[in-house]
Amino acid sequence: MNARFGIAGLAWIAFCVAMAGCNDGKTTREVSVANLGNSEHGRQLISNYGCGACHMIPGVRGARGKVGPPLLNLSQRTMIAGELPNTPPNLTRWIQHPREVEPKTAMPELGVTQDEANDIAAYLYTLRGREGTSWID
Ligand code: HEC
Repeated sequence: MNARFGIAGLAWIAFCVAMAGCNDGKTTREVSVANLGNSEHGRQLISNYGCGACHMIPGVRGARGKVGPPLLNLSQRTMIAGELPNTPPNLTRWIQHPREVEPKTAMPELGVTQDEANDIAAYLYTLRGREGTSWID
């Protein structure tokens, strides 16, 4: 190891420590989301469960509903439904049991299982706003 690498290496380690959760430059949430579930399967489940009847969801055919909020930027939201801090366990809880969280919500209990909710959450966390996403009619 030469001196230049040593300094660069130390700077990188210091940077990683500062980022608190550095893993190939990914944030902690991105890493935990990668382990959460199968996002492509989640996209199919969103289609099967008909979430798009109430939500606009990029990348899901026909998902143009306006009953609930559009599900873009989900990875950047602070809160879920204005009730729960946006963490993977809270998102899967909301998807499975919205009425336990908020009894009067218009979002129904659809009988989504834990594994399915993990896959759906993994897909929703891939959404980052309008850039790079496509609306499919
Ligand atoms: C009958 C309409 C309806 C259906 C079907 C529905 N939702 Fe919702 N959803 C809502 C409404 C209304 C809200 C807003 C809840 C609130 O803030 O009280 C909501 C909120 C959400 C939120 C929180 C959004 C935010 O901005 O914080 C997520 C995530 C979500 N729904 C995912 C899903 C998924 C995934 C499905 C399918 C498994 C689904 N929804 C099916 C109506 C629906």
